[in-house]
Amino acid sequence: MITLSLILAAYLLGSIPFAMVASRLFKLPDPRSYGSHNPGATNVLRTGRKGAAVVTLVGDAGKGWVAIISAHYFSRLWGLGDEVVAGMALAVFLGHLYPIFLGFKGGKGVATSAGVLLGLHPGLGALTVLTWVIVALISRISSLSALLSALLAPLYAYYILGEGLVTGAVLMVSILLIIRHRSNIANLMAGKETRIGKGG
Ligand code: G3P
Repeated sequence: MITLSLILAAYLLGSIPFAMVASRLFKLPDPRSYGSHNPGATNVLRTGRKGAAVVTLVGDAGKGWVAIISAHYFSRLWGLGDEVVAGMALAVFLGHLYPIFLGFKGGKGVATSAGVLLGLHPGLGALTVLTWVIVALISRISSLSALLSALLAPLYAYYILGEGLVTGAVLMVSILLIIRHRSNIANLMAGKETRIGKGG
């Protein structure tokens, strides 16, 4: 019962769409109405308002991080197993993808997954974020950076955390993130994917 309640709380936390929060704060249009129509930091950046994109990024990553820090805390406090950490990791990510507050139509999960990985293990998060940054510096394409990071994150998790439920959750997060980038993959293959900060 405790585990289920914690997982539900993580889902609700993940459901908070920071792209919408930032857009209201900065008086910007609904991010689902322009660019890629994705409520995420990359799309908010297409408005040219870097502050709004940063609020989105920090908020979406922060909720992933908070969910995992809470999972570790409660798991230790009540002597719960890894299933709480793995369950809350998946739940906060699924909350972002299928938020109850947005009719279950959410974002692609890149920032939230970064927050989750940083919470699980700082080295795992740092390596994955570094992968994103390196690919982004070379390609200037946000989705390509996210896809390559998602491909490598489960390998990093395997070497850092070893086999187990938590690494399994990282693998699930990566698979869902890649599936969520279907339209980006099609654009990449057609050579039509937009560069960071550019419209589209
Ligand atoms: O943050 C999601 C990113 O990987 C792609 O975003 O708006 O270009 O579909 P977008």
